Amino acid sequence: MARADSTDSSNSVGACMTDMVNKLAGKVALVTGATSGLGSDIAKELAAAGADAVFVAGRDRAAGQVIVDAIGPSAFLMVLDITDDDALDRCVEHIVAQSGRIDILINCAAIYEDAGLASTRAQWHSTLNVNLVSAAVLTCKVAPHMPPGGAVVNLSSIGGKFGAAGRAVYPASKAALLQITKNFAVELAPAGIRVVSVSPAWTWSPMLAKVSGGSIDVADRVGGALHPLGRVGRGEEIAKAVVFAVSPDASWITGTDLAVDGGFACLGPDQGMSASRWFDKLSQPST
Ligand SMILES: NC(=O)c1ccc[n+]([C@@H]2O[C@H](COP(=O)([O-])OP(=O)(O)OC[C@H]3O[C@@H](n4cnc5c(N)ncnc54)[C@H](O)[C@@H]3O)[C@@H](O)[C@H]2O)c1
Repeated sequence: MARADSTDSSNSVGACMTDMVNKLAGKVALVTGATSGLGSDIAKELAAAGADAVFVAGRDRAAGQVIVDAIGPSAFLMVLDITDDDALDRCVEHIVAQSGRIDILINCAAIYEDAGLASTRAQWHSTLNVNLVSAAVLTCKVAPHMPPGGAVVNLSSIGGKFGAAGRAVYPASKAALLQITKNFAVELAPAGIRVVSVSPAWTWSPMLAKVSGGSIDVADRVGGALHPLGRVGRGEEIAKAVVFAVSPDASWITGTDLAVDGGFACLGPDQGMSASRWFDKLSQPST
């Protein structure tokens, strides 16, 4: 009996690689907070996965233009403040007029402002407004233009999963994103739209560059102790997970969180060491 031979299998490898490159062929994507950091990495990765159009949204025109130029003709810059409802309406109208629909929404814009217990009411409002409310409002504005097969990814964080002294506002915003991911997933499922959150741990970005003095080696050394994989994440690693989450490969995944964190969230405060190893450390002479 005739069987698939080596020619068939090499063809299927070729087809498989084409599929990986063109996973998002025909898709129209909008990424907020895309003029820097992880948002720009995500915009680049969506384009690399074959998206027809990637709308790079952010406040910084000059930085955004650099990202758009780097991606090429499939990228379009949308300069806006996501807390401005009129600007969001204009953005959605523009994309729908140009591309007919929005298949993919990545809610990535965020601010890190946080004074823990000392946070003022204004700080609570501004951080929740950017990190949570604007993501929710934009999702509501985009959803009517999203065809079945559409997907929304909310960038949450390990910060939204654990307690931390000196922080309150940012983690609260990220925890709430985990929650609305579930609510919106249920709400939008009948329309064939999936909603997923992606939660990075420490990832090389402008924020980490600032605290590490601009050295990725220092970031890896300090972060290595907290992440079982022994280093901080890279923007492309978050972006590839986001591409998976919005791709047809994730067609049965909704309302859940994808931890992209080098194992951070599976460690307890004992850092993976049993009680006996902690007591052994006590008896070792300190250097
Ligand atoms: N970098 C990390 O280690 C890390 C870890 C966990 C989660 N995250 C999440 O990933 C996302 C990206 O983080 P990043 O580290 O790349 O940060 P970043 O500061 O580089 O990116 C955030 C972007 O949001 C934009 N933004 C803020 N307010 C805005 C507004 N009102 N209108 C429009 N744009 C606005 C900023 O200008 C910036 O471009 C965030 O949601 C963050 O919470 C990052």
